[in-house]
Amino acid sequence: MQILFHAGGIDPAPWIQSFKSTLPQAQLREWREGDDAAADYAVVWKPPAAMLRGRVGLKAIFNLGAGVDAILQLGDALPPTVPLVRIDDAGMADQMAEYVTHAVLGYYRRLDEHAANIRQREWRYIKPNQKQDFSIGIMGLGVLGSRIASALAQFDFPLRGWSRTAKQLPGVESFAGESQLAEFLKGTRLLICVLPLTPHTQDILNRQTLSALAPESYLINVARGAHLVEEDLLALVQSGHIKGATLDVFRQEPLPADHPFWNEPRIVITPHMSAMTLRADSVRQISNKIAAIERGEAVAGVVDLARQY
Ligand code: NAP
Ligand code: GLV
Repeated sequence: MQILFHAGGIDPAPWIQSFKSTLPQAQLREWREGDDAAADYAVVWKPPAAMLRGRVGLKAIFNLGAGVDAILQLGDALPPTVPLVRIDDAGMADQMAEYVTHAVLGYYRRLDEHAANIRQREWRYIKPNQKQDFSIGIMGLGVLGSRIASALAQFDFPLRGWSRTAKQLPGVESFAGESQLAEFLKGTRLLICVLPLTPHTQDILNRQTLSALAPESYLINVARGAHLVEEDLLALVQSGHIKGATLDVFRQEPLPADHPFWNEPRIVITPHMSAMTLRADSVRQISNKIAAIERGEAVAGVVDLARQY
């Protein structure tokens, strides 16, 4: 069995070594320009079009991340009938729940405001938030969003979720589709975006949707930078309608040195690290799926190309 590997910017050696221990029968090689020799599987992150264009004989392409927006941008360079398989949790959901819970509790307990006072050597009481006024809305209730919901449910926040299809998750009020978006946003005090980036969700965090949130609300975006119209958020933070934002993803990454977000203390920036691909877990998951495909079995995490996630 031949496996091609390419993960732009990432040292392939430890990955290839890990696959050798889980799939000892496989031959792994790093793809290089001009390599069009046969392969059964491709394991990729942000691959160049030349790696996949016109390739025949692949049984599956494994994307080394949950989001497939970058690989779908290859368009007709992607072999149309080859299943594209995303990372399906493999330790990402717990990381995302940790990151989001930390940010939510910080805003709920007003720790950002206390920290600002302490920096000024001010010992000051701030009226606490009340849970019943702190409704949390999660956009996207898939692998990651549903884990975030179960983490936050432990604290008894009023929780609501928005997805394409209606869900039944313990302690989460479900809103589905375009027709229920306005109602979902209207009662939300803290909005979390964990949607896939598709033509339907691009720019979904904009002046109109963010203005529909409760006054003095908060935003956490851990999905993709292109979900957010950045200048709209900045204006709403500066007007006070949005009290704070925690952003892990940006339209341009790394965030350019002259970006206004660097100078806005109410916007917390992290460098796209909320849920990282864990090598050991991911290699194990992909290897198990390759073994299942070889046995003629179906695998989870196959991307629906029509939905684009
Ligand atoms: P997922 O399992 O595919 O879940 C996607 C959720 O979004 C589903 O609930 C889906 O609804 C909903 N959705 C999709 N399109 C929608 C639309 N037009 N309107 C309303 N809801 C819609 O994805 P996931 O594994 O949770 O990952 C989500 C995203 O997180 C990834 O695509 C990636 O971009 C991002 N991510 C970021 C990081 C990071 O480090 N920052 C790490 C990993 C992933 P249905 O359930 O009804 O289909
Ligand atoms: C990371 O952003 C991913 O999509 O896995």
